[in-house]
Amino acid sequence: MEKFNPKIILSAAISIDGKIATGSGDSKLSSKKDLIRLHQLRSQVDAILIGKNTVNKDDPLLNVRYSRGRNPIRIILDSRGTISNKSKILQTSYQIKTIIVVSKKITKRNLQKLKNFPIEILIIGKNQINVKTLMSSLGKRKIKTVLLEGGGTINWEFIKNNLVDEFFITITPFILGGKNAISLVQGKGFDKVTKSPKLRLNRIKRLENDLVLHYTKL
Ligand SMILES: NC(=O)c1ccc[n+]([C@@H]2O[C@H](COP(=O)([O-])OP(=O)(O)OC[C@H]3O[C@@H](n4cnc5c(N)ncnc54)[C@H](OP(=O)(O)O)[C@@H]3O)[C@@H](O)[C@H]2O)c1
Repeated sequence: MEKFNPKIILSAAISIDGKIATGSGDSKLSSKKDLIRLHQLRSQVDAILIGKNTVNKDDPLLNVRYSRGRNPIRIILDSRGTISNKSKILQTSYQIKTIIVVSKKITKRNLQKLKNFPIEILIIGKNQINVKTLMSSLGKRKIKTVLLEGGGTINWEFIKNNLVDEFFITITPFILGGKNAISLVQGKGFDKVTKSPKLRLNRIKRLENDLVLHYTKL
């Protein structure tokens, strides 16, 4: 069987100083026009992927509502299966296809909790979810495009593994500061500029006071 990995598109709204949320976790950076653009993009991909802290902080729906189109599959990386029963993701799992990815360290109790919802549970990795294994598993499920919507920890995991093919970064007219405020990319970071993915600036688009940058991997 032919093997392929999905194309990964990272999308984020950042402040001028590169933060994706304030220190207290307020991430409402996007303008209405940028949300419309984001939701159009969502309607064109097979899946959206986020980390469990973003679920906890933002309680997102991850559907398409500011434009027309179908909802992509929602994928949450949550190695211990701690996502709340009351989260919008689990509460709407009856209507929108949802995959929760956990690792082998999930407790029986949390696994049982997840099994009460009509979701797919993928167990990948011993202690940490191995994102490369996950991508080939999604490829086998005929998922061709994945929109990575953060947060910073998950973004680093995919960038570190050189898995991101395209970036849509919206620079919003805010300056947030704060050394505990989450940046676009968290984690350990690269020690040399040369280790960064090599990117080409493909397109820029002004949306009133926002600037949308589209980069592709060279
Ligand atoms: N402005 C924007 O566009 C935007 C977009 C998204 C999010 N945000 C903001 O970003 C913040 C959250 O970012 P964050 O960096 O704290 O968290 P995150 O990236 O949303 O989630 C990180 C968590 O995912 C889990 N995870 C599972 N598998 C992983 C793996 N292989 N590698 C790394 N993590 C894995 C880990 O928890 P376990 O170990 O328990 O599994 C980890 O702590 C929120 O404040 C949110 O509002 C902003």
